[in-house]
Amino acid sequence: MMNNDNLMEKIISLCKRRGFIFPGSEIYGGLANSYDFGPMGVLLKNNIKQLWWKKFVLDRDDMVGLDAGIIMSTRVWEASGHLKNFNDLLVECKKCHARYRQDDLEKKVCVSCGGKEFTQAQNFNTMFKTNLGPVETAENEVYLRPETAQAMFVDFKAVLDTSRKRLPFGIAQIGKAFRNEITPGNFIFRTREFEQMEIEYFIAEKYWKKHFEQWMEEMKNWIAAVGINENNVKFVDVPDNERAHYSKRTVDVEYKYPFGQKELYGLAYRTDYDLKAHASHSGKDMSYTDPETNEKFVPHVIEPSLGVERTLLAVLLEAYHEEGSDKDKRVVLKLKPALAPYKVAVFPLLKNKPELVKKAREIYDDLRQQFPTAWDDRGNVGKRYYAQDEIGTPYCITVDFDSLEDKKVTVRDRDTMKQERVEIESLPGYLKGNLS
Ligand code: GAP
Repeated sequence: MMNNDNLMEKIISLCKRRGFIFPGSEIYGGLANSYDFGPMGVLLKNNIKQLWWKKFVLDRDDMVGLDAGIIMSTRVWEASGHLKNFNDLLVECKKCHARYRQDDLEKKVCVSCGGKEFTQAQNFNTMFKTNLGPVETAENEVYLRPETAQAMFVDFKAVLDTSRKRLPFGIAQIGKAFRNEITPGNFIFRTREFEQMEIEYFIAEKYWKKHFEQWMEEMKNWIAAVGINENNVKFVDVPDNERAHYSKRTVDVEYKYPFGQKELYGLAYRTDYDLKAHASHSGKDMSYTDPETNEKFVPHVIEPSLGVERTLLAVLLEAYHEEGSDKDKRVVLKLKPALAPYKVAVFPLLKNKPELVKKAREIYDDLRQQFPTAWDDRGNVGKRYYAQDEIGTPYCITVDFDSLEDKKVTVRDRDTMKQERVEIESLPGYLKGNLS
């Protein structure tokens, strides 16, 4: 990560300028702390999610996926303890009534009015409530899920019976979660609507320490895979009195964001708390029978929980580079190729030369079958490089007059800015080799 006081402002400005992230509902003056992911943002976000899915579901024999509803029965949240325990401590400034999460109020001074007196802390349940159907009654009150995790417990038996997995195995899910945060902020770091990538990994109790360590290693591998420098990450054991109600051990994976070292991910040993709670509230059996020993027990769970937006922000912070002088500055996102919105861009040297445009179009149409490919014929080649650098495209291909004769194009590397002539025919192989 660049050492730069204004790094967050630069990232926010780049995100807006290049179509990664826009303020939500902007034409109506915006909706506080809500963001929309634009054309580049959705590609980057999808690439993060796809990489995670490939690494943790498709490439493993011991994992299966799930895509459950955002709205679940209220009994789920009774059983899980969220209705009772999913609270933040809320305090109010006695002077201007601004509300804060108690643990965010480090300096004990109201940022709105400078007041120093606050009300007693009260529990504030951060689940979003709504009603199912047209009549608003207490009976049809439902909640938007505050974590994707619960569906993996509720559907545990159905997944077990249909997938015939044996312990240890995991259920993975990517999806939206909602929390009525008292103090959202720091761009996309803390929002009220966000996405999680979660795994509930079911194990026999006696092996929990081994699995916990293994998942810690997996999280380190993931952090490296998305291009986050390990020196900017700290694994912090959460003390007993600060852990969630269901956890016997939690490690917070913290990242040195420009606004402080804050939680990026969490790894929790949830014991058999959730499955047992759902068994007792639903009356359904949540146990597993070991096919070798015939032993019947309720599995324990290790949960690696990752936020998509926090990943995306850390990835952008790591990738952002400025090179050259103030007068001739190059801004480049050195994203891992797997995450780059486009892997390659194709340009005709001049847009008013039909023979160049035709050849470049042929190459573009061919490459886009195999790689996310951008087309650009605006301005001069220098400007096009500049634009592609800012969205992190690893390779740019220019078709010039020589290309029509020697059947070669100029390929320019985003990070080194080196250019080389490559035969048109061997472009797919060249790109495949270099991007992997
Ligand atoms: N199922 C466990 C669970 O939800 P958590 O620590 O509350 O644990 C997991 O959340 C991850 O979800 C966090 O580490 C973070 O990456 C992300 N996350 C949580 N609240 C968030 C918010 N308000 N905005 C953005 N991401 C959030």
